[in-house]
Amino acid sequence: MAKFIPEPYRIKMVEPIKMTTREHREAAIKEADYNLFRLKGEDVYVDTLTDSGTNAMSDAQWSALMMGDEAYAGAKSYFKLVEAAQDIFGYGYIQPVHQGRAAEKVLFPSFLEKGKYAIANLFFDTTRAHVELAGARCLEACNPEASDSSLRAPFKGNMDVARMEEIIREKGPENIGLVVMTITNNSAGGQPVSLQNMREVAALCQKYHIHLNIDAARYAENAMFVKMREPECKDMSIKEIIRAFFDLADTFTMSAKKDTIVNMGGLIGVKDENAPYILKIKANCISFEGFYTYGGLNGRDLEALAVGLYEGLDENWLRYRIGTMEYFGERLDEYGIPYQSPAGGHGIFLDAAKFYPQLPYYEFPGQVLAIELYKECGLRACDIGSYMIGNDPDTGKQLKSINEFTRLAIPRRVYTQSHYDMVIEAINEVWKRRESIRRGYKITWEPPILRHFQASLTPIEE
Ligand SMILES: Cc1ncc(COP(=O)(O)O)c(C=O)c1O
Repeated sequence: MAKFIPEPYRIKMVEPIKMTTREHREAAIKEADYNLFRLKGEDVYVDTLTDSGTNAMSDAQWSALMMGDEAYAGAKSYFKLVEAAQDIFGYGYIQPVHQGRAAEKVLFPSFLEKGKYAIANLFFDTTRAHVELAGARCLEACNPEASDSSLRAPFKGNMDVARMEEIIREKGPENIGLVVMTITNNSAGGQPVSLQNMREVAALCQKYHIHLNIDAARYAENAMFVKMREPECKDMSIKEIIRAFFDLADTFTMSAKKDTIVNMGGLIGVKDENAPYILKIKANCISFEGFYTYGGLNGRDLEALAVGLYEGLDENWLRYRIGTMEYFGERLDEYGIPYQSPAGGHGIFLDAAKFYPQLPYYEFPGQVLAIELYKECGLRACDIGSYMIGNDPDTGKQLKSINEFTRLAIPRRVYTQSHYDMVIEAINEVWKRRESIRRGYKITWEPPILRHFQASLTPIEE
């Protein structure tokens, strides 16, 4: 029987949730043009749209807020944050920004422009957008194991190093502006990257003189997986594993709204404190985010972030976090429900292509399943598949994703086992009636970039 690891914390404050009927939810999703991002939060019972910025802060973080120094320049809170980040990552320069995509926007133009390419083990949607906004194009080299959801491999998030080298040779090393290692690999299902794979990628980057950036949103969950699954790391501390990864890269971009357990914040790190592009980072930060000692954050946000950086590394916390996903996965196994297995670090990625093999990718199976789950129990999840990937920026043609997932991203320290059990029963109800779905959705309006956040959809009539 699946075992739930008890929480390493207790609850001090509660937030009531509105209960809704199926009728109410059917009207609400229609009103939102079948786009879950356009639902009102209060119409959702369990919200797994994202684990980003939806975390519950600790008492230590709430008290740190009171220490926020709101000086425009050179605030005490800035130095406290820089000291914590340098201690953990060992990098010479740390730049706060307001969230992950701001880090991408500020850093990427130093390495990317028209005619250049970025290679990743898979890009997250905003990362892809910022590569394209810088004028460059995205190429991916993900471990092929990631496209077989039933294959239980330990490091499905890895870079396909042979494919990466092929791309470098095809396009010419001088045209590869950036390699991005996403840890954990969100689009592959929150799957981890091994230290061995990171070493191989770094060696290739050195060989061809290519800049290596870590997309570090979930670096702590990745480190816990490495400790659990990579024999050479089993006796290392989480901090030592993190250091081993970051020592191999040149820079990192981080959404701190994930593993750093805050509601808002991001970081850029540069290993070499004398790197010439730090001047450009500061200049871009001043133009887009704010002065470089606050980077679009309040002084109090910098304080909460400095505390969260350490809380996110706590081994008992990470064991519970990964254990929650394992529990969820084992319960789905009991019902034979397909998901990216083994479970990822921050959520469950249901394999919507296996729920609905009757639907082609351009009818968006991942979105269909997300809508069915919302109607069933008020759960909000999202498509991580062809609907999210969107269109080729050059041809305008719908791209086909390597997976059609419906992602349940679990906020940190927010929900309890009974919420998860309710959701698992609802998923099973939707699974049992999967064959009754005959058609998917079509898009009736979409913006040119990051369309899934805003698009309007309508059910395709049979
Ligand atoms: C892997 C990864 N990179 C970048 C981002 C962008 O971060 P943010 O949402 O803070 O802008 C996200 C989050 O959504 C992510 O999961």
